Amino acid sequence: MNRLLVGLCAIAVVSACSKEDEKQPKPSEVAPHATPAKGTAAKTAPEPIPETAEPAPEPAAPAPYEMTGEASPEQGLAAAKAGAKALGGTLKGRLMSAMQEGGPEGALQACAAEASSLTAGVGSNRLRVGRSTLRLRNPKNAEAPEWVKTWLTETGERKAEGVAGVEEVVDGTARVLIPLAVGGLCLACHGSTDPHSEAMKTLLASRYPEDKATGYENGDLRGALWAEFDLKP
Ligand code: HEC
Repeated sequence: MNRLLVGLCAIAVVSACSKEDEKQPKPSEVAPHATPAKGTAAKTAPEPIPETAEPAPEPAAPAPYEMTGEASPEQGLAAAKAGAKALGGTLKGRLMSAMQEGGPEGALQACAAEASSLTAGVGSNRLRVGRSTLRLRNPKNAEAPEWVKTWLTETGERKAEGVAGVEEVVDGTARVLIPLAVGGLCLACHGSTDPHSEAMKTLLASRYPEDKATGYENGDLRGALWAEFDLKP
């Protein structure tokens, strides 16, 4: 169950993975519990989504977005990418633990209570991060940079497959956008409202009277994770 949730969630959160991550081995796959006889399964079935299922690999090393001096465009992009992934990992980690503790209803309350502060916690004086979408749940998430809004409008409502993200440096700021796909896990709170429990319907209606973020299907583009990093401190 755990692995399944991690997989679904990670697919959704990081569809544009960086090269560094592809090199990270996933310990749990290297030593499959049931079959000590070689990792044939791990070899023939390529790692589906190792990236954000893991904690930050080197807790001792500062994250790229913690650099203090002026950044080159490459460093800026690496920093923005790391910021976007840190936000994705933080939110997903909290979502997963809350789902385990309190099921979808408990997790919904945790997301509602904590998503904004967790998002703010990842940012700094030169790093801005957030999530946005064409179909908002929290109206505050409309506060995205213009280039993100333009990307959302131009990309439109569609399946997430084949949708490319953004990595560019414009006017001294590195911009990264990672498209977010709806996976099985997301459907509990963003899928069709029919199967929602009464408790979930009541919670959604009271917390988010303007909610537009239901009715998604597996594979739909849900929105984007975005990050901006200023090259100058
Ligand atoms: C337990 C319920 C729950 C699950 C599961 C869930 N979300 Fe959400 N989602 C929420 C809530 C609540 C918010 C509003 C949080 C806030 O106040 O910022 C939200 C907000 C968002 C936003 C920000 C834009 C907006 O509409 O406000 C995105 C993007 C998003 N979710 C994507 C996903 C994806 C992708 C998944 C699957 C990996 C997922 N969510 C799973 C409850 C959930």
